[in-house]
Amino acid sequence: MSVKKIGILTGGGDCPGLNAVIRAVVRRSQSFGIEVLGLRNGWLGLVDGDVEPLTSFSVIGILPKGGTILGTSRVNPLKTTESRQKLVNNVQRFGLDAIIAVGGDGTLSAAREVFALGVPVVGVPKTIDNDLRGTDFTFGFDTAVNVVRDAIDRLHTTAESHHRVMVVEVMGHHVGWIAAYGGLAGGADFILIPEKPYRLEDMCAVLESRRKRGRTFSIVVVAEGASPGGEPLPEHVGEGNSTGVGYRVAQEIGRRLGVETRVTILGHVQRGGSPTAFDRILATRFGLRAVDLIREGNFGQMVALQGVRVVPVPLEEATAGPKFMDLDQFADAEAFFG
Ligand code: F6P
Repeated sequence: MSVKKIGILTGGGDCPGLNAVIRAVVRRSQSFGIEVLGLRNGWLGLVDGDVEPLTSFSVIGILPKGGTILGTSRVNPLKTTESRQKLVNNVQRFGLDAIIAVGGDGTLSAAREVFALGVPVVGVPKTIDNDLRGTDFTFGFDTAVNVVRDAIDRLHTTAESHHRVMVVEVMGHHVGWIAAYGGLAGGADFILIPEKPYRLEDMCAVLESRRKRGRTFSIVVVAEGASPGGEPLPEHVGEGNSTGVGYRVAQEIGRRLGVETRVTILGHVQRGGSPTAFDRILATRFGLRAVDLIREGNFGQMVALQGVRVVPVPLEEATAGPKFMDLDQFADAEAFFG
């Protein structure tokens, strides 16, 4: 098919790397004489007709910039018949041959349904949580892991000086990828993830044995979705910054071991700042391939990293449920507990 115009949107929680995708889509499209229309604030821009043309000038200097120049939202475009009809009408109105939807599970589930309405769509996987199936990694994840690693490095010096147990609560929603990779990179002494219901007595026994060996401080990383098991994901308290699980774990450690504890909630620091080189490269490769899939007429797909190759994966597969932390990989982190 001869493609003349592509719409691009960024939806869901933001993360570093989104602008690298936008830049790659615009530059690849331009090389084939294809126009690009930015759809503002996720799917909402297509429903409301809130758009802006993107040219090579629009993307100058955005590669290292965190966040998204298009803005984002968690709006579901299929919520009402009216919003669904407005979306389809605007695809015609703006003469869009295809949509590139950059987002996580929510955005890509909507993309799957929009494709079912007959709108040509290609998805790009984005989330710091790394919880999308079909792709080894999503961009945003490496940058978040490096934020956690840096925080743990800093907390080591104050923990050691005060002989404290420092508890770090990290994001990840339903999965423990950030906690596992960040904890392994930072040398955490224990890591709690949703995929392994935790037993406080086991953890405290490990921390206690460490103290008996003269290591009078510890770092414990807790995924926000961790729980003693069987419970639903703890709800975020306040404005989505924490489930409070870090405080509950620290309280138990202090009570059982009689030691000083302190809690650090990393929250949205994990979502901010400039993308790492890995995320810039991954996001750029995803953007290039997304345009290629459109030119090949291969819709209803998500670009995905498998090994070192970027390949198409059906949106049905990518959105069939969370990709939980691989417990074989988690065992690598467990090797260093205590
Ligand atoms: O999905 C990314 C994520 O950062 C999760 O890890 C976290 O639980 C959630 O978004 C926070 O959502 P919000 O930015 O809407 O508070």
